[in-house]
Amino acid sequence: MDLQLNEEQEMIRKMARDFAQNEVAPVAAELDEKDEPPLANLKKMAELGFMGLAIPEEYEGIGADSVSYVIAIEEISKACASTGVILAVHNSLGSHGLVAFGTEEQKQKFLPPLASGEWIATFGLTEPETGSDAASIKTKAVLDGDEYVINGTKQFITSAPFAHLFIIFAVTDPSKKHRGLSAFVVEKGTSGFSLGREENKMGIRAASTCGLVFEDCRVPVANRLGEEGEGFKIAMSSLDAGRVGIAAQAVGIAQGAYEAALAYAKERHSFGQPIAEFQGIQWMLADMATRIEAACLLTYQSALAKDRAKKTGERYSKEAAMAKLFASETAVWVTQKAVQIHGGYGYIKEYAVERYYRDAKITEIYEGTSEIQRIVIANQILR
Ligand code: CAA
Repeated sequence: MDLQLNEEQEMIRKMARDFAQNEVAPVAAELDEKDEPPLANLKKMAELGFMGLAIPEEYEGIGADSVSYVIAIEEISKACASTGVILAVHNSLGSHGLVAFGTEEQKQKFLPPLASGEWIATFGLTEPETGSDAASIKTKAVLDGDEYVINGTKQFITSAPFAHLFIIFAVTDPSKKHRGLSAFVVEKGTSGFSLGREENKMGIRAASTCGLVFEDCRVPVANRLGEEGEGFKIAMSSLDAGRVGIAAQAVGIAQGAYEAALAYAKERHSFGQPIAEFQGIQWMLADMATRIEAACLLTYQSALAKDRAKKTGERYSKEAAMAKLFASETAVWVTQKAVQIHGGYGYIKEYAVERYYRDAKITEIYEGTSEIQRIVIANQILR
């Protein structure tokens, strides 16, 4: 694996880092406290081109390679994990289905407003009674002339309160299990489509999450992504792309917490010396740094695999799942140690590690739990 970043990747790192430090970090605690989405920063990220990072240039995106993409998510998440996940979901789950499976007409219509950030995209697969077992969703789409009539509910949909474009999955043929699912593009404001309850979450509080309700919602056949029955494949393929982004988000959270703990360990004195002089703290810092490095390598490796897959058509499910599994477990472990190093101060909101600790947990859950990642990895290595 060649880890020497090229000029473009270095440039994206610098842009994302400067933006994250100057604009994202200063408001992260306040937005978390107020449960408020980072709308002003989404606009600024759009101006920088970040909302179109993974969208091809022919549809007005940046068409960046996936290493550049993970670098941007990592840097933004280091400052604010909520802003990081909105960026990741928009560029992966929300856009991937269109880029990889959309018709030319769908791409021309939907990708430019996503690339410019005028519209925010998201993804509706999970339902109140169906999370991990994605093939068992209950939302139905019934063909009626040149429209599908969609009925059902979705739950835990990231960015939904301010999103404009929703990639939705519904059953079109209940007799075919996962082969009976289809994917649809649903626009905000479509009659019969409304938002459900907004969730009051432990972490990533600035990334608004709510349910979706479909009551005889009519969507034109022209908005079906892929063929009828291809929905499960589109969902899984989008999740491969998405998991690379969540791995990067987790690396960013872990790095933020580690850097805060390192600085604190040098400043804080106890028993007459900086606590960084104690071997107990040094071993924690050494393990944190090592695990982050390993998570970072797996994440970059999954990004390279994702780009190779664009040429070969091969799946990179294993690489994406390994990166997401290891990076999310690293984020939870590292943020817990960061709180521990801060002692009592780590438990109060004036110190960012309190937020990192709460934000890290979701990376082990969304876009497939750690248990699901292990299933995906095992399925791939036992094939
Ligand atoms: N790409 C393409 N096709 C794929 C694929 C992939 N990555 N993964 C599976 N498939 C295909 C298989 O080849 C198989 O094809 P056939 O039709 O030829 O049989 C088919 O899909 C079924 O595959 P499996 O037998 O592996 O499927 P399964 O039912 O056993 O389930 C699973 C697999 C891994 C458990 C899957 O259901 C899964 O990933 N569940 C987790 C769901 C999830 O991650 N939800 C997150 C919601 S989104 C979210 O969290 C977003 C957010 O807000 C941030």
